[in-house]
Amino acid sequence: MTPPHTAMPPPDTRHILIVEDEPALREAYAEALGMQGYAVLTAANGEDALLVLEGNAVDLVLSDLKMPRLGGEEMLREITLRGLSPAVIFLTGYGTIESAVNCLKLGAADYLLKPFDMLQLFKKIALELASGSCLRSKGGRVREIESFSERLRGQNDSAEVFKVLLTQVQRTLAPQAMALFSCSGQAGALSPLFLWGPSFRECPQTRSWLLEKVALVLGQCGAMVLGPQMGKRVEDLREGVRLGSAAVVPIVGMRGVYGVLALGRDQGSTPYTREDLRMLNVYTGHAAPFLESILSSQRFRGISAEVVTSYAQAVEAKDIYTRGHSERVSGYATLLGQALGVADRDLEILRTAGILHDIGKIGIPDGILNKPSGLTPEEFEIMKRHPVVGRDIISRVSSLEEVVPLVYHHHEWFNGQGYPTGSSGADIPLLARILSVADGFEALTSIRSYHEAMTVSQAKQVLSEGAGRQWDPEIVDAWIWQLRDDTLPEISEFKGAPLDLR
Ligand SMILES: [Fe+2]
Repeated sequence: MTPPHTAMPPPDTRHILIVEDEPALREAYAEALGMQGYAVLTAANGEDALLVLEGNAVDLVLSDLKMPRLGGEEMLREITLRGLSPAVIFLTGYGTIESAVNCLKLGAADYLLKPFDMLQLFKKIALELASGSCLRSKGGRVREIESFSERLRGQNDSAEVFKVLLTQVQRTLAPQAMALFSCSGQAGALSPLFLWGPSFRECPQTRSWLLEKVALVLGQCGAMVLGPQMGKRVEDLREGVRLGSAAVVPIVGMRGVYGVLALGRDQGSTPYTREDLRMLNVYTGHAAPFLESILSSQRFRGISAEVVTSYAQAVEAKDIYTRGHSERVSGYATLLGQALGVADRDLEILRTAGILHDIGKIGIPDGILNKPSGLTPEEFEIMKRHPVVGRDIISRVSSLEEVVPLVYHHHEWFNGQGYPTGSSGADIPLLARILSVADGFEALTSIRSYHEAMTVSQAKQVLSEGAGRQWDPEIVDAWIWQLRDDTLPEISEFKGAPLDLR
């Protein structure tokens, strides 16, 4: 790689990189362009050129096509891959014109057929640099939108999506007042989410004008911009409206309208234009699919909650002795999880798993489930299938995937003598070990086909004896501490509220 031809160009000087393997030609181009006032850098092949581009702000690359180590076409591919932004003009002979045309398809700005005179070259470069500035500013906008999309992608809550949208709009469209209304999809069902700026917050006339426009935009599903450049001044429309210009856009997705966003600028400020409105439409258009996906996932979780509740009810309808068991196990497991300091999301998993842990009993014959006397070894083998059947049922619901290990392992023993896998100690998932203690305690303190209900004190004794054998001793200790006043803990009812499980 040869050093830059000019050492200290003025700050606004355009930088051109010449990539040419023939030293005499390289020097000739460098000298001619240097005399035109450009800052010139040079490289002998595509590989060296990439090094120069990585370390320097280059506006334009002037390159040969056939070069050793890395030719022009491969260099161009790398420039695109690495997200570098200079315009590239190729210098080509008839022998490589096909390759030059191919380079245009790959994003090259232009090519110049050899032999050419220097005046032709200067004109092409000047033209490209002039239009390239415009393209680069568009490129900047594209990157801005890409980064906005990236920020939206990280959100899983509609309030957060709205926040990202408002931040973006505030940064790029400089409103002096901003309002956001969310929409449930039913006509007229708008709720204000955000109102900012003195003209929207403090001026009743402006606010009532705004509501009218929002309703209009919602009704027509069309954006509007109002300002002097459109021949209509906002203040002409209503006495006392303080805005100088405004842009109002609906947030429209594939399945409906999710809200309306309104921006205002005060009188005397640069008014909003159609180009601003177009940008606003781009931002809301990007946000809408994210809102759509979040809302549909919330609806799905609502359905999941209903499925969970009806599954549990189906099991309890079959097993007359365990009515209310799932709900109590769910409550105890959640309390125990809280006592052990598990994360909120894990509490949600425990709560759901408590409801669903015995779902596999749907596949167990009624005669075995409701047998008043002890089970025969053969019958017990059948009963032992319920965690596996449960796992198979739950794993079909994608939003419940984190519940599956708890359902599958809730009958494992701490010493490895449980089922279905015989895992022991820390190999059994922590939440399944918690669930197992809650399940055991609930069974002991309830009337079953094979025993009367124990008192809390008696159940604590059984749990203590089983600690280290059937149950994790630390979890048993935490639960016994919770039961220190020897009364059944109060649990909140499971109402099938939307589960925060994705
Ligand atoms: Fe069970």
